[in-house]
Amino acid sequence: MSDFTSNFWSVYVAAITLIGIVACLLLLWFSGKAKANTAGDNTTGHVWDGDLREMNNPLPRWWVGLFIITVVFALVYLALYPGLGTYPGLLGWTSRGQYQTEVSKGNAEVAPLYARYSSMKPEDVAADAQGMAIGERLFMNNCAQCHGSDARGGNGFPNLTDSDWLYGGTPDKIIETITHGRIGNMPPMAAAVGSADDVKNVAQYVLSLSGSPHDSLRAALGKPKFAVCAACHGADGKGNQAIGAPNLTDDIWLHGYGEKAIVAMINNGMTNQMPAQENRLTEPQIHVLASYVWGLSNKPSPVSR
Ligand code: HEC
Ligand code: HEC
Repeated sequence: MSDFTSNFWSVYVAAITLIGIVACLLLLWFSGKAKANTAGDNTTGHVWDGDLREMNNPLPRWWVGLFIITVVFALVYLALYPGLGTYPGLLGWTSRGQYQTEVSKGNAEVAPLYARYSSMKPEDVAADAQGMAIGERLFMNNCAQCHGSDARGGNGFPNLTDSDWLYGGTPDKIIETITHGRIGNMPPMAAAVGSADDVKNVAQYVLSLSGSPHDSLRAALGKPKFAVCAACHGADGKGNQAIGAPNLTDDIWLHGYGEKAIVAMINNGMTNQMPAQENRLTEPQIHVLASYVWGLSNKPSPVSR
């Protein structure tokens, strides 16, 4: 209702609701007062099917009572809860408010559990069986739809179990990634590289960086063209974690392997996004989750307890 600029519809809806309720009461009142013509035996004189006759008895009291209770209930309800146009109700109840109360109640209930882990280093949480179990649950509910239930990712979604990191694999970097999200952006580079043939040559050079099967003649021709890629991927092709430019020398491919995939990358560029979680998960939850992710690719040393 708050989407409207005037309160016409609010008043309209409230008026129809109240008029409807009053009309019900009036109907009850009039039908109680109206006199029907009755014969001496208290029937209306209507006869159907030979001998079926209509009596003129008043409504049963219990029925009238229930009717009035229903009307009173409706009026009390409309006074307490939102129901009359934009009137918010005396209790100030909203569905959003109820949801938020329930979420904060849930978070408060599990807070003591997380408190223990918040004071622990991520490396230690990763060595704690219960900490890893909680982390796994959080991962299944919030991350598995993109990174896979085994966290091995897929095309476009990074594998979180290897030691190859776009943005860095220290616990701090992982917390940063989860909290604020990441946007990896490679612009289309074909124009900067040159002809379609040049693009193919650079792609062959990129394949040669990881020792993948390649055409060494084309790779040699492509090498000088790689200069325009070096700004982000580094002169040696080892990438740059500050901007999430992948290491091209490790034979790990986020967007597919082979000349075709690399040519497409150079021609079309790519924008890839990891959504920020700071509004969905609490800080302690992210702490446990980051510990879990860190633990997937690092063998934590057992903690003495
Ligand atoms: C909607 C899909 C989606 C969801 C949900 C998602 N991610 Fe991601 N995540 C991505 C994508 C895509 C990237 C790669 C971003 C890029 O290429 O720049 C990424 C990147 C990452 C990275 C960085 C990897 C690296 O190599 O530096 C981490 C860590 C990560 N995600 C963890 C998580 C965790 C933990 C969750 C659960 C809270 C999660 N992600 C939920 C899509 C998702
Ligand atoms: C402005 C920075 C920038 C430049 C310049 C750039 N790239 Fe990229 N490149 C990126 C980023 C960032 C990604 C990762 C995209 C993502 O997050 O998914 C990427 C991804 C790639 C990939 C995919 C790697 C994989 O694991 O699948 C290839 C291949 C690639 N670049 C090749 C090149 C080549 C060849 C050039 C030069 C013609 C080039 N890039 C120029 C930033 C850049």
